Amino acid sequence: MLKILVIHGPNLNLLGKRELNVYGKVTINEINKALKIKAKGSNTDLEIVQSNHEGEIVGLIGKAKGKFDAIVINPAAYTHTSVAIRDAVSAVDIPTVEVHLSNIYAREEFRHTSLIAPVAKGQVSGFGKESYLLALEAAIGLAKK
Ligand code: DQA
Repeated sequence: MLKILVIHGPNLNLLGKRELNVYGKVTINEINKALKIKAKGSNTDLEIVQSNHEGEIVGLIGKAKGKFDAIVINPAAYTHTSVAIRDAVSAVDIPTVEVHLSNIYAREEFRHTSLIAPVAKGQVSGFGKESYLLALEAAIGLAKK
């Protein structure tokens, strides 16, 4: 059984009510349900966490070593600011896939830089809920290696 940690960063608890023109109507529960269905079909156990706190996310990543085979993370606004989350991903050396609902490169300039991307295995951006399913598929492939 593969074990994958999924981390939703700040404000993603508000999906479905937040900037509908950017993120659409999908809720975090709908995303999590779709992820669980996909994981079940791939013999994968998921732990899914949402946090609005940078330090908590750093702690979750730090404790993942030896417990998880891969990480899927939407660092949300911390994507563009958090050296601490980047360092945590780099430190644990667990294959990590960065995910975004929106295409961050088609938005404001400050969103074009991801501090996480250089330490992630790769990034999926711009496909809404589907971004997460693609990211999970990539993470399962990495976890199997
Ligand atoms: C986001 C993109 C970020 O720029 C933004 O701060 C978010 C969500 C996305 O999933 O598209 O909160 O990570």
